[in-house]
Amino acid sequence: MERKQVLVPEADLARQRDFEEKIKAMFAGRQAHPVACVDTFGCQQNVADGQKLMGMLQDCGFTLTEEPAQADLVILNTCAVREHAEDRVFGNLGALTHAKKENPEMVIALCGCMAQESRVSERIKKSYPLVNLVFGPHALWKFPELLWQVYESRKRVFSVDDEHGTIAEGIPVVREKGVKAWVSIMYGCNNFCAYCIVPYVRGRERSRDPQCVLREVRELVEAGYKDITLLGQNVNSYGNDLGIGYDFADLLADVDKIPGEYLIRFISSHPKDATKKLFDTMARCPHVAKQLHLPVQSGNDRVLKEMNRRYTREKYLELINYAKSVMPGLVMTSDIIIGFPGETEEEAMDTVSLVEEVGFDALFTFIYSPRPGTKAAEMPDPATRAEKQKWFDKLLETQNAMSAKLHAAYIGKTVRALVDGESDDPAFPLTARTEGNRLVRLKGDKALIGQFIDVRITDSNTWALYGEPV
Ligand code: 5AD
Ligand code: SF4
Repeated sequence: MERKQVLVPEADLARQRDFEEKIKAMFAGRQAHPVACVDTFGCQQNVADGQKLMGMLQDCGFTLTEEPAQADLVILNTCAVREHAEDRVFGNLGALTHAKKENPEMVIALCGCMAQESRVSERIKKSYPLVNLVFGPHALWKFPELLWQVYESRKRVFSVDDEHGTIAEGIPVVREKGVKAWVSIMYGCNNFCAYCIVPYVRGRERSRDPQCVLREVRELVEAGYKDITLLGQNVNSYGNDLGIGYDFADLLADVDKIPGEYLIRFISSHPKDATKKLFDTMARCPHVAKQLHLPVQSGNDRVLKEMNRRYTREKYLELINYAKSVMPGLVMTSDIIIGFPGETEEEAMDTVSLVEEVGFDALFTFIYSPRPGTKAAEMPDPATRAEKQKWFDKLLETQNAMSAKLHAAYIGKTVRALVDGESDDPAFPLTARTEGNRLVRLKGDKALIGQFIDVRITDSNTWALYGEPV
């Protein structure tokens, strides 16, 4: 298969660096030092995009703040996956437009997944006249040019065309301080799960060149990052579009060869594309964390079919059992949706029973939220909110008991953990993560931050382990 050209040409990227210089020069002519705030909502992919925005902003001469009210430029980097996230963004926009009345020079921008929805961009156009700039994920790489247009023309700029998905290499990144880093290995999604807006706003799957990913991970390890997560909507289909016979397991195996003391994690995986080869690779690669986030969404075959997930409960259990057999002690997590249109109580309880059967260490649980434009939003949805809440509470209760039980089994054991920060609990002033990404509240000195150490677990609850350095 011949790969379509998806890389943004170098010359186009170089032009963006010119716009950064223009913006910098414009501010140099003024007295004040410009300050920007990037407010990110939603998933790790968005966090990674936010870090690129911050990189470009720094190159434009901005310093960064976390306080929108103190900023000359505020960017809301939005999420469209559930209605609640959208409501929060509109709430924030209301507050910002108020702040702008005090400071009329403030520039307000909205980007991310919501910006790519025409329903949203039309609403901003009509009802939020103080928003200066709207651009979707496809236009992220040309943010400097769009921002320059705003400053130069003083007109509102909308860049929300449904462009062909591209990949832009070499955008500057402002990383989180500490030990954790995220690396996008692919963009977009081809799966069209019936409830999900992502394929509509992030476009089709395109994989980064393996050499670019490997170079980035090597640089991160050399810079001292110790907990690196590979990101994609469905990392298990990495490489399908490259046409070079190289898949995600191959990438993991190559990343693992990079020398150093670090862990590699990845999110998210789709069960329909998870392979035994992947699990075998995880099992034999020492840098790959023995942790698997494999979203199941439902434990009922009829609902899975309606969701367009393309696997059955049995197939999912088979996968999990194989993964456990090659990785004893594997830590497992999942995503679940309760209340998909047409779901009955019995079907929801099939999900609860699956959760009990698998014994996940933790879950990300959601009540279904209709997303205009998706297939599920057109389906009849007779169950009431109160019924769905009841099923959801049952699921949480089951999972909380399971998490507490699995955590209690750590008591008395010694585990290797990466000390990653401080907490506000004076009795346990440090936080750490086990290889399986379980939170450990830890006694000990700040000097341990950034190190892998052996920790003896002394106590636990549903959400965390407690321990002390050995
Ligand atoms: N409603 C509720 N949850 C959703 N998710 C995706 N779309 C929706 C929706 N419309 C959940 C899925 C996915 C996670 C990132 O968000 O569980 O795995
Ligand atoms: Fe959404 Fe499904 Fe793609 Fe995940 S795999 S981003 S749930 S469409």
